[in-house]
Amino acid sequence: MWIINAKYGSVDFYQTLERELLSLTFGEKNLIANLSNISSWLFHSLPDLNWCGFYLWDEEDKELVLGPFQGKPACIRIKPGRGVCGKSYLEKRSILVHDVDQFPDHIACDSESRSELVIPLKKENHIFGVLDLDSPKVGRFTDVDERELSHIMEKVMSQVLHLSRL
Ligand code: SME
Repeated sequence: MWIINAKYGSVDFYQTLERELLSLTFGEKNLIANLSNISSWLFHSLPDLNWCGFYLWDEEDKELVLGPFQGKPACIRIKPGRGVCGKSYLEKRSILVHDVDQFPDHIACDSESRSELVIPLKKENHIFGVLDLDSPKVGRFTDVDERELSHIMEKVMSQVLHLSRL
């Protein structure tokens, strides 16, 4: 792919990805700009994705609302508990779906998506949104992706939120 030369899935790959995302967002306080660049960087660095982006919690409407993303247009609002994103939000945990056809409440925004990884984004004790990664391949995401990307997002979002008002 673009950007990262290290072998996909290696320790070096994830360390490089973390460094790049930290550097990409360094010193910028605008949350939308940072999330836009993060979604683009992930989309172009991780192989076999057809969609990558954020859903952000809307406190007034009490649901997740589509945020910056890469890929085809997607559903805009997701209630807590609905789909993979709403479940990840409600249960405050990442969810790896090996095959979306085996996940009964999966919301099919892009019919190409065959597997999915959703990572909740934390600020102190609450979840302010989720990162959603979709792939056209069944079984695209591994436990290593889930663990490493969760760790990277925790570090990157902590830097991003330090400067943004949320
Ligand atoms: N599949 C997600 C909905 C979002 S789209 O994939 C972009 C879900 O089930 O929550």
